[in-house]
Amino acid sequence: MNRGRLITFEGPEGAGKSTQAAMLISKLEARGIEVIYTREPGGTKLGEAIRGILQYNAAGEDPCAESEVLLFEASRAQLVRNVIQPALERGAWVLCDRFADSTTAYQGFGRGFSVELMETINRFAIGRAVPDMTILLDVNVSLGMQRCAKRQVGKKIQYDRIESEALEFHEKVRQGYLELARRFPERFRKVDAMRHAEPIAEDIWKLVSDAFLSQG
Ligand SMILES: Nc1ncnc2c1ncn2[C@@H]1O[C@H](COP(=O)(O)OP(=O)(O)O)[C@@H](O)[C@H]1O
Ligand SMILES: [Mg+2]
Repeated sequence: MNRGRLITFEGPEGAGKSTQAAMLISKLEARGIEVIYTREPGGTKLGEAIRGILQYNAAGEDPCAESEVLLFEASRAQLVRNVIQPALERGAWVLCDRFADSTTAYQGFGRGFSVELMETINRFAIGRAVPDMTILLDVNVSLGMQRCAKRQVGKKIQYDRIESEALEFHEKVRQGYLELARRFPERFRKVDAMRHAEPIAEDIWKLVSDAFLSQG
């Protein structure tokens, strides 16, 4: 039985996942809660090596679509066993900037692999680390892309392999996330992310504190 809470942030590129995760972390830490932040792929030595391969072709060739799924899952399995599960067991909260639903949305709904197969592989990778709450930051593709373009200004890094996919792909991803939120209403909380960061953070705080902090 987990003592901590596992909260995942999901949504398209530029939805504000990293921004909102940071805002929630400072609110939780202000209440004396130990919070671990993870991003995917990565978060362990193995995971960071996989991140280089997936995002910037560090291995020197494009992973095929099937390898892409399995590399994400390998990174995730390692993160769960070495970071997430130990943290939850000692009572820490874990905030994941992307988790298993990203594979279902991007490789399932986006690339067209069987959604059920993606969910089966996800279950194998995550074991007992099922999120207590998944916050879906919903943003339309063009606004998300505009925000990413702004984030890019002044930086030398280019868009990574997945960010560079066609708009049509990102639209499928967005719709896939919305479908997941309909399928798993007990876990998903959809938040309109097409607003300023502050009101979004307030909505998220209300969802989280009502669900997990209401007794005290
Ligand atoms: N609600 C918002 N309104 C406007 N800009 C935002 C908002 N949230 C985040 N941003 C900015 O948009 C860019 C993408 O946000 P980020 O949190 O990195 O998104 P994600 O992690 O979902 O890709 C960043 O430059 C960030 O500062
Ligand atoms: Mg981010």
